[in-house]
Amino acid sequence: MIITSQTVALRDGRACLLRSPTRRDAQPLLDFLAQTAGETSYLLREPGEVGYTLAQERDFIQTSNTAENRLMVLAEMDGTIAANASFWPVGVFARVRHRCEMGVVVRRPYWHLGVASVLLEQLFKGATACGYRQMELTAVATNARALALYEHLGFQRAGAVPNGIRYADGSCADEIIMVKQL
Ligand SMILES: CC(C)(COP(=O)(O)OP(=O)(O)OC[C@H]1O[C@@H](n2cnc3c(N)ncnc32)[C@H](O)[C@@H]1OP(=O)(O)O)[C@@H](O)C(=O)NCCC(=O)NCCS
Repeated sequence: MIITSQTVALRDGRACLLRSPTRRDAQPLLDFLAQTAGETSYLLREPGEVGYTLAQERDFIQTSNTAENRLMVLAEMDGTIAANASFWPVGVFARVRHRCEMGVVVRRPYWHLGVASVLLEQLFKGATACGYRQMELTAVATNARALALYEHLGFQRAGAVPNGIRYADGSCADEIIMVKQL
């Protein structure tokens, strides 16, 4: 599904354009994924593990925009992609069709402005319109700001995967499972 583009004012008064991606965003999105993987240890990918080709990324955008049960929203600021949020189905079978999973990433210069909060509100609206009944996510247990944000927006902790994340240096972190009823 796609959203109607809209401009919102952030905490500091700056404008942020929320919009669906187009084919032209494929390369900027690949750059965004590579850059953000190097900015934080809270994502699944090690820096350099963004293995999609330009064609695959274009297909992915096309699928997100046309599938009735998927959504990707970009936050554009200063003419660049400041953040990206998506939801997708947990599975294909009828008994799990009420559940979607989500992810959100904000580029470090745009943290603390409320970008993730406005993107997540878009995801909640879209997921409800799709007929989903609950939204799920996983977050690294040490990602205190993300956990606080999600709890503030109505997610509840549903469990943890011990040592769900293993870093290149061999250290581990638990993965927290969170669920929000829509
Ligand atoms: C985590 C992340 C998505 C947050 O994005 P953001 O745009 O900075 O988040 P927002 O500004 O919308 O909201 C976070 C705020 O909600 C705040 N918040 C939490 N509970 C709150 C409450 N009860 N009342 C008010 N604010 C609350 C958070 O503490 C944080 O405040 P801060 O900016 O003053 O520190 C971003 O830092 C990021 O992309 N990090 C790297 C990747 C990542 O961790 N992704 C999530 C993987 S699960």
